[in-house]
Amino acid sequence: MHVLILGGTSEGRRLAEALVADPALRVTSSLAGRVAQPRLPAGEVRVGGFGGAAGLAGWLRGHRVDALIDATHPFAETMSRNAAVAAAETGVPLLALRRPSWLPEDGDRWHPVPSLAAAADALPGLGARVFLTTGRQGIAAFAHLDALWFLARSVEPPVAPMPASAEVLLERGPFALDGERELLRAHRIDVLVTKDSGSAATAPKLTAARELGLPVVVVQRPAAPQGVRTAPDLAGAVNWLQELRSQASG
Ligand SMILES: NC(=O)c1ccc[n+]([C@@H]2O[C@H](COP(=O)([O-])OP(=O)(O)OC[C@H]3O[C@@H](n4cnc5c(N)ncnc54)[C@H](OP(=O)(O)O)[C@@H]3O)[C@@H](O)[C@H]2O)c1
Repeated sequence: MHVLILGGTSEGRRLAEALVADPALRVTSSLAGRVAQPRLPAGEVRVGGFGGAAGLAGWLRGHRVDALIDATHPFAETMSRNAAVAAAETGVPLLALRRPSWLPEDGDRWHPVPSLAAAADALPGLGARVFLTTGRQGIAAFAHLDALWFLARSVEPPVAPMPASAEVLLERGPFALDGERELLRAHRIDVLVTKDSGSAATAPKLTAARELGLPVVVVQRPAAPQGVRTAPDLAGAVNWLQELRSQASG
């Protein structure tokens, strides 16, 4: 059985690692190619876009893919939509691996917003020194906020335009609570901006913000494609593949 994992996340990598141990599976992971030195998943890896939903459908047919797992980041909206369209067109079974959203806890001062633009609108009322963790493509939405200072953290250098007053921190998670607490204190941060990625690797910043009583602007996830089966974790994905194999052999 040939399984294609649409990756670019720690879940995608962990899933590939779990599946390659099974000799009955051929496992290919697909990466977008945004990161210069990605952490490569186990098994076969291909890099770069497919050329839209039609390109992905062609790839699924051409490489005789039997199961497609969308393990992309919850904000990779286009890729997830293309996966749904290509799966419907080719009849290849699709599962979306979606980690649950973060949930606020007692003491959190979260401001949920529907988009990066809405996050930018909310900021001036919340603080002047901003810790921005929306990824390198998410920084441009804040470029017009001249009165604010930004600490912008991303894996790769940000895409222009940048805010006039910004310091860039090139770092890749996971991030530990001690370091996040120290970062917020050292830069005298008074508001944090994040996407609701739901990742454990980047959640300590939320704990640090809670401890310091800081507001957090949380960009909510885009809607997932309708009618796609989802699993919240690796075990769910492994079970789904098992179901497919039972159906195929039965
Ligand atoms: N968005 C985030 O905040 C975020 C955060 C962490 C990691 N990531 C990862 O970074 C990658 C790009 O994210 P994005 O938000 O830019 O995606 P996107 O906007 O949904 O996708 C844009 C295009 O990039 C290509 N692409 C995306 N993911 C791909 C994959 N896994 N394999 C092959 N091509 C892919 C596709 O090109 P074609 O149409 O040519 O096929 C897609 O149409 C994803 O793999 C995602 O898991 C994203």
